[in-house]
Amino acid sequence: MTSITFSARTIKDAASASTQCAILPIFKGEKLSPAARQLDSASSGAISAALKLGDFSGKPGETLLLPGPGPVKRLLLIGCGEAKKFNREAAMDFCGKVYNSLNGSAARDALLYLADRAIKDGDTAWLLSYLARRLVSASYRYTETVSKPKPALKLGKLSVSVGGDIGTGAARKALEQGRCMGLGVNQACELANLPGNICTPTYLAQQARKLGRGNDKLSVSVLEEKKMRELGMGALLSVSAGSEQPAKLIVMNYSGGKSSQKPYVLVGKGITFDSGGISLKPGAKMDEMKFDMGGAASVFGTVRALTEMQLPLNVVAIVAAAENMPSGRATKPGDVVKSMSGKTIEVLNTDAEGRLVLCDALTYAERFKPKAVVDIATLTGACVVALGSHATGLYANQDELAEELLAAGTETHDRAWRMPLWDDYQKQIKSNFADLANVGGPGGGSITAACFLARFAEKFHWAHLDIAGSAWNSAPKGATGRPVSLLTRYLMDRAGV
Ligand code: BES
Ligand code: MN
Ligand code: ZN
Repeated sequence: MTSITFSARTIKDAASASTQCAILPIFKGEKLSPAARQLDSASSGAISAALKLGDFSGKPGETLLLPGPGPVKRLLLIGCGEAKKFNREAAMDFCGKVYNSLNGSAARDALLYLADRAIKDGDTAWLLSYLARRLVSASYRYTETVSKPKPALKLGKLSVSVGGDIGTGAARKALEQGRCMGLGVNQACELANLPGNICTPTYLAQQARKLGRGNDKLSVSVLEEKKMRELGMGALLSVSAGSEQPAKLIVMNYSGGKSSQKPYVLVGKGITFDSGGISLKPGAKMDEMKFDMGGAASVFGTVRALTEMQLPLNVVAIVAAAENMPSGRATKPGDVVKSMSGKTIEVLNTDAEGRLVLCDALTYAERFKPKAVVDIATLTGACVVALGSHATGLYANQDELAEELLAAGTETHDRAWRMPLWDDYQKQIKSNFADLANVGGPGGGSITAACFLARFAEKFHWAHLDIAGSAWNSAPKGATGRPVSLLTRYLMDRAGV
């Protein structure tokens, strides 16, 4: 896969700056920017002619590709609509158009002349960071198991000419942050897209070791089933019991901060295939349960982003990896298992396996004396019913943590919506035969799942992200890389970046 490099500078004379494609944002009804005027006169008025002929008016989403003058091979005009309506949403659409236009072009480099127009509800640094992330993540292609993958983006280099409202140093930093985030998103997409026969718990463990290699700030350890048994992780092990694939508890320890600083802990649900187990799922769309390690994938992606950025803080990333399968050795409905915390659990439905692997991973997280713990899981179909695919479900036992995560999601347009964790729901997961049942009946399925997890997260500030709706798309099928951007932004904020 080709990777894009980004740079920022200030160009005084657009007509003499050589590029395969000069990109000009054009606002409806506004006079041309200085760069556009220079390119217009160098091309004998090609831009003003297009505007005059009505071929291009600057409407949002409109694009026009023209041959450029001299060292400028192409001119790409992109409509941005009315300047006074240019907000983050319009800016995101603009970035999408930049990608689409370049994707259809043979240009290997491009030069974007930033509009001298402020975004209503954001700033230029935000735009550059978003642009870099969007271009990097849009250029991701799944290639691993296809003979003729979709053609790669030709573009290898994007320069941005910045003006008054941001210096080149700040612009470079914003682009770099967005690029790192994009790499993290792509890492998550790749792992989540891989089929279950390749991406097994063992494969995930290998990938973690690979991430750790050559990075002295990242140390990786993998707990095997034997060790998990010694620790009393009966809940986690009850999920892998029916599978030929051994479970792995993967721990990636990133020390970017002082050793005295308490770590932020991420915990990812890593069910590499969820058949439902003995409570077998129906056949339709069962293939999509290869994405049931989307939480784990987002943890990997976030680790990738923060190591790329070299964030100055400590993070422990835990992935609870297992495959959920039926067999003669599989856990049965009605079985009672004992978790590492000592709490016993009646497994009423073997398809509610995510909370079983997570509860032991949460108990394991206690030993790191975390500042906060965030788990990420494709946990419930009920969350998809409640929120669809646009919002991730957010639960937290502390308001400040909830606010910080919501803010990170808003900032990156990787949005979450807070859901209740009220005690009232706890009675739904009572059992006559154990301390807890693993399902809570038909109402509020995403909430009762979160309430189950809350019982294992009483010793620290904790949040849970239910990404069942946001982690992948069904048409066309593919991972989204969410919520890597949210998590990375959250950690950047904590690191004061
Ligand atoms: N991985 C699924 C949740 C899921 C289902 C995510 C569909 C995305 C799309 C999870 O393990 C599961 O099966 N949950 C059950 C819980 C139920 C048995 C209480 C569900 O949501 O049906
Ligand atoms: Mn399940
Ligand atoms: Zn599952």
